[in-house]
Amino acid sequence: MGKMSQAPRRVHALGSLCEALPGGALVDDVGHLLRSGDVYQFGVARGRSLGQIIDIFDFHSEGEPTTQVWGFDTFTGMPEETPGEPTIAIWSKGHFSPGGPQANASIARAVGGGVEWVIGDYEQTLVPTLRAQRGMQPARYVDIDCDLYRSSHRALHWMFASGLVGVGTVIGYDDFWDLSCSKRGPNNASARHPFQSGEGKAHAEVTKRFGVTFRCVCGPCQPMSPEALVHHESWRTYFVVEAMGGPLSDHGFAMPAWQHAHFLQQNARCKRTFRSWHTYSARG
Ligand SMILES: C[S@@+](CC[C@H](N)C(=O)[O-])C[C@H]1O[C@@H](n2cnc3c(N)ncnc32)[C@H](O)[C@@H]1O
Repeated sequence: MGKMSQAPRRVHALGSLCEALPGGALVDDVGHLLRSGDVYQFGVARGRSLGQIIDIFDFHSEGEPTTQVWGFDTFTGMPEETPGEPTIAIWSKGHFSPGGPQANASIARAVGGGVEWVIGDYEQTLVPTLRAQRGMQPARYVDIDCDLYRSSHRALHWMFASGLVGVGTVIGYDDFWDLSCSKRGPNNASARHPFQSGEGKAHAEVTKRFGVTFRCVCGPCQPMSPEALVHHESWRTYFVVEAMGGPLSDHGFAMPAWQHAHFLQQNARCKRTFRSWHTYSARG
């Protein structure tokens, strides 16, 4: 028997991302997830999670054709949030700078090379002609780790408007719960739903703007077991695009309201975050 035929059938790469998340594995019917296409990361910094993503999407695996990876960042750290939007101290201007674009060569070496960079603030770099200029292909996976509402909105809007997202594309958010799990206002008076700020607000707005039907495929955006609700430490959330361009839309967030309230009050990481992080309005 040849070497190729002995290889076990691989599960979708996303299965590996999901294994570590609450609720465990990826939802059962994975047929609708794209198995080929490019990978896009918005928010690279020093490339820590980009390296993991590249490992997981293992370019040379059987049945999953080689994928181009695109990394988008200023490489000089965070820009400012839109004035009036809630933000937190670790997202202040200049944070996460790896030392400027000259750091790209070492980041590329650290993540194994082969990444194409788009360097600069998304306000300047994400123009309508970029896709054609750089030969970008539709996305199998889009990683949103740029934290701010304004950056996440710009990135998602550009991906959809450029036709790079389609049915089967998965979008993962690193910071879906950060602001909800931080203190807000003097009496913490306002409700704290992920769709009110940051990456979650961008997700909700793009859902409506492009008539997208999303489905939560793993992470705290679906019903969770009582144990995961309390103990789970990762709040990365993943949604697949099931339809788009229609009159109806669905953000895909399927966690029941009572679980949402429980998550805010009882999740260990959320409680820790709440003790030490405080949101304030960006001044711009
Ligand atoms: C939390 S860090 C990314 C962390 C990284 N994924 C890791 O695993 O270490 C957020 C990054 O988003 C980038 N970013 C945020 N908004 C941006 C924008 N509008 N344009 C370009 N880069 C942006 C920042 O420069 C920063 O490097």
